[in-house]
Amino acid sequence: MCGIVAYIGKQPAFPVILKGLKRLEYRGYDSSGIALFGDMVNTFKKKGRVAELEAWDEEIISTATVGIGHTRWATHGEPSDANAHPHSSNSGRLTLVHNGIIENYASLKQELVQKGYTFKSETDTEVLVNFIEDIQINNNSSLEEAMRIALKRVVGAYVIIVMEEGFPNRLIAARKGSPLVIGVGEGEHFLASDASPIIEYTKKVIYVNDYELAIITPDEIILKNLGNETITPYIQQLDMELAQIEKGGFDHFMLKEIFDQPGSLTDCLRGRLDMENLTLTLAGVEEHMSVFSQAKRIIIVACGTSWHAGLVAEYMIETLCRIPVEVEYASEFRYRNPVVGEGDVLIAISQSGETADTLVAIEKAKEAGAFIFGVVNAVGSSIARLSHSGAYTHAGPEIGVASTKAFTAQLTVLAMMAIKIGREKKTVTESEYNRYLAELALIPEKVKAVLETHESIKEVAKHYADARDFLFLGRGYNFPVALEGALKLKEISYIHAEGYPAAEMKHGPIALVDENLPVLFIATKDAYYEKIVSNIQEIKARKGMVIAVISEGDTLIRGMADHVMVVPEVDELLAPLVSVIPTQILSYYIGVLRGLDVDKPRNLAKSVTVE
Ligand code: G6P
Repeated sequence: MCGIVAYIGKQPAFPVILKGLKRLEYRGYDSSGIALFGDMVNTFKKKGRVAELEAWDEEIISTATVGIGHTRWATHGEPSDANAHPHSSNSGRLTLVHNGIIENYASLKQELVQKGYTFKSETDTEVLVNFIEDIQINNNSSLEEAMRIALKRVVGAYVIIVMEEGFPNRLIAARKGSPLVIGVGEGEHFLASDASPIIEYTKKVIYVNDYELAIITPDEIILKNLGNETITPYIQQLDMELAQIEKGGFDHFMLKEIFDQPGSLTDCLRGRLDMENLTLTLAGVEEHMSVFSQAKRIIIVACGTSWHAGLVAEYMIETLCRIPVEVEYASEFRYRNPVVGEGDVLIAISQSGETADTLVAIEKAKEAGAFIFGVVNAVGSSIARLSHSGAYTHAGPEIGVASTKAFTAQLTVLAMMAIKIGREKKTVTESEYNRYLAELALIPEKVKAVLETHESIKEVAKHYADARDFLFLGRGYNFPVALEGALKLKEISYIHAEGYPAAEMKHGPIALVDENLPVLFIATKDAYYEKIVSNIQEIKARKGMVIAVISEGDTLIRGMADHVMVVPEVDELLAPLVSVIPTQILSYYIGVLRGLDVDKPRNLAKSVTVE
C-alpha cells in the first residue's frame, strides 16, 4: 500500500510527480504530499485525494526539477495533513517518503525521545527519518552510510526515497519488501512503486531488489547492497503502453476492465492455445512437468480475489489431475507453522505480485523445500521473481481497486495448467483434452456475449441498489464464484454481502431470509443444477427475493426467479469464467447507483504491501 513517485532531471518535477501519484492512487488515497528542491526543500501535504496538491504555490512548483511524492494508505495514525508524507527530520535536513511498515518503530521512537527528538505525526515514517538523522549526526557519516546502518536495524518492510538539504541533485532510495522501479531517461530519472507513472517518459526500467540502495543523480544510477558493494543495474524494457493504463472512454477503470475481458482473455490464451495443432503451451509448467506430475499435493496461497481463483483451481486440479489441493489464505499459512516441504508444489496467485502475506508465505515454503509456481499479472514483480517458475496472466494493468479482469485471467491460466498436467498424468483422456481446448477457445466470445447484456443487468441493479444485505449462493465450481460475487458487491457498494455454498445455507444463513433479502444464485447448467433448483425453491418458500445467473435457454429458473442474468452454456470446469461476469457488472452498477467511487472504495487499496 501507499504509492511513491520521485523525479530528478531537467523538467519541472511537480507535474511529473503529481500525474504519477494520480496513477498510483489505487495503492492508497487518504492523503498525499510532495517535497521539492528549490533553494531549500519545500513540502506540501494534505489529507484527501492527490488532486488536493494542485493548490500548491505556483512559484515553487514551476521551477524545481527534483522532488519526491507520496499517496498514503494509513497504517500508523489516521489520515491527516500531519500524518501525510513526506516527513522531515527534526533539523529539517532530511525529507523522505516511505511505503511499508517499520515494525520496531515504537522502540526506536523511545530511544529518540530520550535523546530529545520530537514528533509532529503518529507515523513510523517520521521515526525512521529521525533515526537516520541521529545515526548521521552521531557517526558524522554521509547519508548513504547512515541509511545503510539504519536499515540494518529496522524491522519491517520499506521502500524509502530520501532528499538531503545541501545535495539538491541527488536522491537516495532503498528497498526491502515493498516495490521500487527506476525509469532510466536521458539526463533524468524517475522512481515509482510501479511502472505506470514512468511509462510515458521511458520504457527502460530497473527493478530494485531487496536490501539494495540506489544513489540517483540526473545522469547516474549507482546501485549498492547494504554491504556497500556496487551492483551492476539490470536495465529491462517495459512491455506496456500508455493506453493500457487510461480509461479509454469508460466512466470508470472498473467498467473498462470488465469490458477488457474478451481482449485480456485472448491475450492470456495467445501463444498458448493452438487450435490448429490442438496444443497447449505453458513453458513454466512444461519445464517442470515431472515436479507437477509427481507432486504429493499442491498448496495454493493467495489473498482476496486471487484466493477465490485458488478455490476454483482446487476443483479443477483435483478433478483433472487427481492431486490433492489445499487452498490457504497466505496470511494464515505464513503464521501457522504449516507442514510443507519437498515434494509439495506451492502455487502463489497474485495480480500485483507484491502482496506482503503472499510473498512471505512463498519464502517460508521455499525455505522448507517446496517448489514455487507463480501465477502473477504484474511482470517483473516480487512474487514473479521469487518463484521457481510461473505463468503470467497477461491481463494488462488493472487499476480499479476491485479485481475483475485479473480474476478471469487467473482462472484461465489455472485451467490451462490443470488440463495440461491432467493430460500428462493421463487422468484427462484425449477426447476430454480436445473438448476442453475447444471450450477454452470459445471463452472470450462467450464473455463478450455476457457483456452485451450489460443494459439489462443495469436494470436489475436498479431493483437492489438500496438493499442492506445480500446473500450469494453457488455449488461446485460456482461456489467460489458466489464468494467472489459477494466480495465484489461489498467492496464496491458497501452493502453487507455473504457468499455461501448453496446447500450450506440451511445451516445458518436461511435464518436471515425474508422479503427484504436478495439472494443471488449462480445457477448455470451443471451437475448440481437440480439441487440448486431445490435451493431456490427453499428461498422462495420463505419469500426471499431471488436473482439468478442462469444458462441460456433455462426456462425453469427463469420462471422461479424475480430477476435473471443470462450467460451462454459452458462446460462446468470453465463456467466460472462466464458466470462471474454478471456479478461484476451488477456490483459495478449498484456501486454507481449508490453514488460511490467504485474505482477507489473507502479503506481499500489495490496492492496490500503490508501484512
Ligand atoms: C487487495 C485487492 C484485491 C486483491 C487482493 C490480493 O485486497 O483489493 O483486489 O484480490 O488484494 O492481491 P493480489 O495482488 O495478491 O492478487
